[in-house]
Amino acid sequence: MVSSGPKQATADTWWLPRGVVALRGRIFEKVNGDRTLTLPNARYGPEVFERVYAHPAANGRSAGAGLSDLFWYWLSPGPEVHQEHLEPGERYEDVAAATRRMLAGNSAELSAAAARAVARVLDTVPDTRISLVRLRDLVMPAWAEFAYELVFREPCPPHARDLITAHSTDVINALKCTGLRHPRRRARLTAYLRERVAAGDVRHELPASLSLPEQVHFLQGTMFNTAVVQLSEATAHVLLALARHREVQRRVAGSPDDDRYLTHVLDETMRLYPLFGIAHRITTGDIPLDEDTTLPAGSVVCFSYPAYHATGYDRPDVFDPDRWDTLSAKDAHHIPFGVAANRPCPAWRLSPLVLRAAVREVLRRFELDSTASHTRSNPHRAPCLLIPRGLSPEPRRLDALRAFVRVRDGVEDVTRGVRQLVLGTVMVLHARRLRPAARYFEEPPAGRCPVAHGNGGNR
Ligand code: HEM
Repeated sequence: MVSSGPKQATADTWWLPRGVVALRGRIFEKVNGDRTLTLPNARYGPEVFERVYAHPAANGRSAGAGLSDLFWYWLSPGPEVHQEHLEPGERYEDVAAATRRMLAGNSAELSAAAARAVARVLDTVPDTRISLVRLRDLVMPAWAEFAYELVFREPCPPHARDLITAHSTDVINALKCTGLRHPRRRARLTAYLRERVAAGDVRHELPASLSLPEQVHFLQGTMFNTAVVQLSEATAHVLLALARHREVQRRVAGSPDDDRYLTHVLDETMRLYPLFGIAHRITTGDIPLDEDTTLPAGSVVCFSYPAYHATGYDRPDVFDPDRWDTLSAKDAHHIPFGVAANRPCPAWRLSPLVLRAAVREVLRRFELDSTASHTRSNPHRAPCLLIPRGLSPEPRRLDALRAFVRVRDGVEDVTRGVRQLVLGTVMVLHARRLRPAARYFEEPPAGRCPVAHGNGGNR
């Protein structure tokens, strides 16, 4: 069964946002220089994508790519100890093991912790009238509390939740070019974590090969940014998909004990709206592409998740959870958490568990409705109407609210597109000037300084 959501919002028919997005894409490509290959492409299909991604020489993470300066800039402070950006080696292994320790846990307890955290934010939403929210903003404090509990094994105080939420929001807004970085906002979380780490409050062994300031940055980057941002984005995507496909939503809500269908909904959401647009690697040896062509060492390979996820499916651009009735996520072109052979996401087990718990908690209390557009990057933070269960809104009022969401989304899309172009350009230029990754790798390993915020020029 294929569900029919509302028509793509006005954004798809207005020329300005599309032109802006295309121009922005070209600017970002330029940052990287010329030795870039994006896979899959017209010549090298999904099989080459899989082979190259899993190749042992596709293992460089940061050194040697212009793109790294941009990611390090966005992720600071401490991008040099962020697990995603560490080069392979002992430090990487040490950090990856610490992340695994923090994400490990009993499935039922993790699900219950997620449901509790989401319940706390939902308690703040009125249950006697319809509310218009942005789903990402609504759930981010819940995931901040959840991540805090993973690290400190105690309930999260509001002050810490607010610091984590402010930091994660700042990083994701900068990454999406909807806002500039605010280094001082980020520094407030660093200062808080520094005190807690120094006091020995972290309830896990931290990476021993890192100094105390580096351990703080590791926690800040991986547990209090990536974990919070990814779970918030994924929750916003799946809830928005349900809000736009009401019969899918009814089926999920009507079968609270059937995890199978909800798993299909999650798989389909992450297939169509993967959180990573592109993951990149720098090659450290030659990789054959076909009989005649070899990709030389030092190339930057961009693995396009949306392009790969669109291959091998019938009607790939249609949201159809039922396609997973006959497909196995293992055999299909489906890698929402990366590829097993090359640094997959350490939260591949935890994330679906806690996302299911979060979705159940929301649907238990509210019906969702949205006429906003749904794109992979969701820069609008997923506008949605929350209708308390048991409330029967007057149809005319509901129609008016739905029309408002659609029109506002269309208008915002245009203004946001221009804003993203301007802010994106400012940040690209600033990152090029600061060259955080390039400067770090130019120094001999013994003398390397932690990468600072590069304060000052971006506000
Ligand atoms: C639905 C939620 C999530 C999705 C879809 C997701 C997706 C991904 C993907 C596709 C990668 C691999 C990218 C590549 O090949 O470079 C990745 C890596 C990573 N993810 Fe996640 N992620 C999610 C949640 C999380 C959470 C909760 C954490 C918690 C810490 C996390 C931490 C990381 C880290 C540290 C890496 C880098 C792995 C490495 O290089 O060793 N992710 N994630």
